[in-house]
Amino acid sequence: MHPNPVPLTARRSGPLTGRAQVPGDKSISIRALILGALAVGETPITGMLEGEDVLNTAKAMQALGARVERAGERQWRVHGVGVGGFAEPKQPLDFGNSGTGCRLALGAVAGCPITATFDGDASLRSRPMRRVLEPLERIGARALASADGRLPLTLAGARDPIPIVFKPPVPSAQLKSATLLAGLSAPGETTVIEAEATRDHTEKMLKHFGADLRVDVFEAKGRCIRLAGQPELVPQPVTVPADPSSAAFPLVAALLVPGSDVILKSVMMNPLRTGLFITLGEMGASIEALERRMEGGEEVADLRVRAGPLRGVEVPAARAPTMIDEYPILAVAACFAEGVTVMRGLKELRVKESDRLTATAALLRANGVTVEIEGDDLIVEGRGRVAGGGAVTTHMDHRIAMAALVLGLASERPVRIDDGSFIATSFPGFVELMSSLGADLS
Ligand code: S3P
Repeated sequence: MHPNPVPLTARRSGPLTGRAQVPGDKSISIRALILGALAVGETPITGMLEGEDVLNTAKAMQALGARVERAGERQWRVHGVGVGGFAEPKQPLDFGNSGTGCRLALGAVAGCPITATFDGDASLRSRPMRRVLEPLERIGARALASADGRLPLTLAGARDPIPIVFKPPVPSAQLKSATLLAGLSAPGETTVIEAEATRDHTEKMLKHFGADLRVDVFEAKGRCIRLAGQPELVPQPVTVPADPSSAAFPLVAALLVPGSDVILKSVMMNPLRTGLFITLGEMGASIEALERRMEGGEEVADLRVRAGPLRGVEVPAARAPTMIDEYPILAVAACFAEGVTVMRGLKELRVKESDRLTATAALLRANGVTVEIEGDDLIVEGRGRVAGGGAVTTHMDHRIAMAALVLGLASERPVRIDDGSFIATSFPGFVELMSSLGADLS
């Protein structure tokens, strides 16, 4: 629980209309800070997400010796220390709620001859870290951690890092990225072989900063990533596009609240992030991608979303890596569809900011929806309408909080959440943005 919890209520709203710009992408903002810290010289970042997860990562990079400054609204500058150049922090690094900040920084520290302690809030302290320590220990880092690897933990970085070949046991961009960041310090080639491709922001940004990195595709979904170690990373301007995982909330709200017609500007359309948009399209949603263009090395589009009927669908497990953070809000959309929606292969949801599989089912049930968890699958019975009236426990999870509020905008009775404070980890200004479109949130 947050020291100052912020209970919020969402009520059935009139049509949502207008244009909105959702905040910058969390994954890219965190990577820009970390790679900026590992480059020699100044990295300017435009459009940065100024959410708690990113700010905590910025503080950690400062504690490791980089200079991080806010130059203006969403404009930041990082003065990096070079690959292997981190200084030993005097205090534990506190990543708050951010699994991505923590795991990627573990990777970056693992290749440096320093010792650092990593910590976070109660949610982050409950999440598995063993999975990321395994490749980092093979590279030569040593972890002083509890048997299951939970935070707080102390990592002694490798003095002589060894390049490894790593096959992540689960599809995880964090695991892949931590390994590549540690591999930066190793002589020779670090290889990550992914059976299922996950978001590729680390690979793209490493190349942008001049690293010698090659990606080969195999069996359509597989990726073999080879990184030549010990590059000199050259600072480059980074433009952060709007986060599709944040856009998901106003987007689904506009689909569900009758009469809505909303445009979400410059949303990143990286194909490894757009599984939700594809799924909603299969459900019959009206989402038009206008003015597709390139911004900062990523394709973006203005998304025009209009309310309309949805139908239940089956979402294959293979799609999960491209929409891993979007299941809570997809489950909300599924309640308002006609027919059953089956979402397969959601095991990884159990280790997010909360056990999201259980929390999503509980949020729907509290509002009168019939929902089942069968193994790793989530099955939602859509009836075109939702009673609402529920009180939702958010478990320190921003996406559960936002999903519950979107449900309340379209359900018959108001939906209350115990605490909206964690929304600021990824989507500062959520309530204001939704209200500007006409949502009744208080
Ligand atoms: C992220 C990867 C995903 C995702 C998280 C952000 C990233 O986690 O859930 O919100 O930026 O690399 P996993 O890598 O654990 O699947």
